[in-house]
Amino acid sequence: MQLTITEDYAALSRAGADYVAALIAASPAAALVVATGNTPMGVYSALAARAAAGTLDTSRLRVFQLDAYAGLAPDDRRSLFRWTNESFLAPLGIRPDQVVLLPDDAPDPDAACRAYDAAVAAAGGFDLAILGLGPNGHLGFNEPPADPGLPTRVVRLSEESIASNAAYWGGRDAVPRAAMTCGMAQLLAARHTLLLVSGEHKRAILRRTLEGPITPDVPASFLQRAAGVTVLADRAAWPDTV
Ligand code: PGA
Repeated sequence: MQLTITEDYAALSRAGADYVAALIAASPAAALVVATGNTPMGVYSALAARAAAGTLDTSRLRVFQLDAYAGLAPDDRRSLFRWTNESFLAPLGIRPDQVVLLPDDAPDPDAACRAYDAAVAAAGGFDLAILGLGPNGHLGFNEPPADPGLPTRVVRLSEESIASNAAYWGGRDAVPRAAMTCGMAQLLAARHTLLLVSGEHKRAILRRTLEGPITPDVPASFLQRAAGVTVLADRAAWPDTV
C-alpha cells in the first residue's frame, strides 16, 4: 500500500486527478468503478477540466457505478447514479453505452446485482477503483461487518451511513434504508485502487484502516492486503509525517 499525504483538499484533488489521468493515458480502455460522496468531487472536477481542454481521452473507458440506493423512482433526486452522472460521466464526456449501472429503480435488485457482477467479470475485473472511506470503514455500501468474499448485493444501511448520508439529502429521514453495493470481492480484486480521504473527521477510521487489524469490522482494512492500493489523504486526515 502506498500512502501519500497532501497539504490540503485542493492538493489531494490535483494529485488524485494526476493519478487517474496517468492510468487512463496508459490504459485508455480501462474499467473504472467510481464513488460518489463528497471526497472525490475535487478529483472529478480536475479531470473534467482536462477533458474539456482535450488532454484526457475518455472515449474508450468503461465505468461502473459503485453503489446505489434501492427502490427509488426513476427521477428521484437522491439517485446516486444521477450524482455520478452530474459529477463524473457528463463532465468527462462519457457516453451511456460506456456505463454499467446499479439501477436504483430496478424491479428486482437481486437480479440487477447478479447482472452487474457478470458485467464486471466480462470486463475482466476493474482496472481502477476510485473510493472514499466511510466513517465506519465501509467501501461503497459494504457496511461492517463485511467479509472480503462478499459479492455485489442488496444491503441495509448502517446507522453510521444513514447519519453521514443525511448530510447529502437534508436529514436522516431523507436517506433510503436499502442499497445495492459493488461487492467486496470485486473491489478487492481491482488492479489499482485510489482511496481518497480528507478531513479530521476521518482521522480515526483512516488509522484503523491502515494500521489496525484486518477485520470485517473495518471493511476498508482488507485493502492492507490488496494489490495496487494508493491511499491519498490530506494532512487533516493523517497528521503524521510519512
Ligand atoms: P464522503 O463519503 O466522501 O462524503 O466522506 C465517503 C463514504 O461514505 O464512503
